[in-house]
Amino acid sequence: MKAVAITGASSGIGEALARECARRGASVALLARRADRLEALAGELRQQYPDQRFSTRSLDVTERTALAPALEAVRAELGDLDTVMANAGLTAVNRTGAGDPARDEQVTAVNLLGGMATVDAAARIFRERGGGRILGVSSIAAFLGIPGSAAYSASKAGFTRYLHTVGMELGKHNIHITTAHPGFIKTELAPGMEKYPFVISADKGARIMVQALLRGKKDVTVPAWPWALVRRVAPLVPDALVMRAFR
Ligand SMILES: NC(=O)c1ccc[n+]([C@@H]2O[C@H](COP(=O)([O-])OP(=O)(O)OC[C@H]3O[C@@H](n4cnc5c(N)ncnc54)[C@H](OP(=O)(O)O)[C@@H]3O)[C@@H](O)[C@H]2O)c1
Repeated sequence: MKAVAITGASSGIGEALARECARRGASVALLARRADRLEALAGELRQQYPDQRFSTRSLDVTERTALAPALEAVRAELGDLDTVMANAGLTAVNRTGAGDPARDEQVTAVNLLGGMATVDAAARIFRERGGGRILGVSSIAAFLGIPGSAAYSASKAGFTRYLHTVGMELGKHNIHITTAHPGFIKTELAPGMEKYPFVISADKGARIMVQALLRGKKDVTVPAWPWALVRRVAPLVPDALVMRAFR
């Protein structure tokens, strides 16, 4: 892992992934919409790791045709590109029937279609260079829907299925995909994240994800306890219990 591009690097898990990759000696391209935050992080990392390269690029993943040229530009800036992390995402509470389908569309456009466009652009480069690694950040919500965030849950279920499927396709091109399923991680994703059960820091989550990627794991639940078990028993959990947990 020498040259990494990360979407959603302006906060939370993406920022922590950037720090973890830098700590491990990689040059890193930071991508998101908030350029000021990317620049501040890049400046800090340049000071800490003067022998590595850190670039920033303002990018909205819903502009899907921008993904391929952006990753090509990153490849030129860093001198190579061997790892891409499709992490950008957002959530939104939208009680079904509230009459706001645009909100659900935005969640789907970022989490599912934006994630797919990121992976597609990465695969194009990696096929040409003879291999590479992709980390896709999905969610435990792929297996256990969150009432009030149905579009989020659906977008993550779709992204997980997409990542598992393209992982099969791309293996023969020496392109490895790791799909990460975080439980609760303390970030800006939603207010009050720190109050959720079994919440961990973004730094810890990023460490687990990068380790899994480097070990060639296809899938990782973050952290394993209790989410690996929750994931397994999810189809058996009564709806009333889920409703109570997210009330
Ligand atoms: N935190 C959790 O408990 C948790 C659990 C499961 C899964 N996840 C997943 O982890 C990923 C990172 O989320 P987080 O928790 O770190 O939340 P966060 O702190 O809110 O970070 C989200 C990142 O996504 C970027 N982003 C949002 N919309 C974008 C767009 N249209 N184009 C480009 N970038 C965009 C944001 O940057 P800009 O606003 O600057 O563009 C930001 O850097 C998401 O996919 C989320 O679904 C998080």
